[in-house]
Amino acid sequence: MVNVEPEEAIRLISPRVIALITTTNPDGSTNASPYSWVFPFSFEPPMLTVGVGKGGKNTQKNAEREKEFVVNLVSKDFGQKACDLEWITGKDQLKKVGLSEIDSKKVKTKSIKESKVRIECEYLTTVDVKESDHVLVVGKIVAAECLAMKGKVPDFDKLDLLTHVAGDEFREVGKKVLFKRKRG
Ligand SMILES: Cc1cc2nc3c(=O)[nH]c(=O)nc-3n(C[C@H](O)[C@H](O)[C@H](O)COP(=O)(O)O)c2cc1C
Repeated sequence: MVNVEPEEAIRLISPRVIALITTTNPDGSTNASPYSWVFPFSFEPPMLTVGVGKGGKNTQKNAEREKEFVVNLVSKDFGQKACDLEWITGKDQLKKVGLSEIDSKKVKTKSIKESKVRIECEYLTTVDVKESDHVLVVGKIVAAECLAMKGKVPDFDKLDLLTHVAGDEFREVGKKVLFKRKRG
């Protein structure tokens, strides 16, 4: 085993799917930025969290003000564009990288047309643990759509989702394996 310092151990929890989180700016335009600390949080009601670095990122400010945000999962075909959005800001930022916005089903915040998995959320609360350098933005899922499903789970072979390891390293989603789980 290789010893991993606690400060580096966060990277062991990877890879994680990447989302472009869309929110609505004060002028009504759309903000879209990449996030990979996106985790499911509750089945009933369905909730998820986004880990946002402290310091006033637009995603947190917009979500708290407008009370909504959309999680648009990133596929490999627009992975570079999603990464470029980390630094491209302002009006028309989606257009600048060659992506486009579409109306969402339930919320007024726009979704990303190119995304194959879109999850619309109503903002619920922000959890701020004093010692941490990130907050948890909590959203309740109010609508969602996926380009391809196999029963109740996404058909990953058709979605080509991209995941983040750390820094410049990304991974594709691998092939399916099955294990039996006992039902309680
Ligand atoms: C692949 C990828 C994943 C990222 N994940 C996160 C994350 O989970 N949390 C975070 O605070 N920043 C993350 N970032 C950095 C943000 O995208 C960056 O700080 C961005 O400028 C925030 O934009 P905003 O102010 O519009 O929210 C990530 C960047 C990349 C490229």
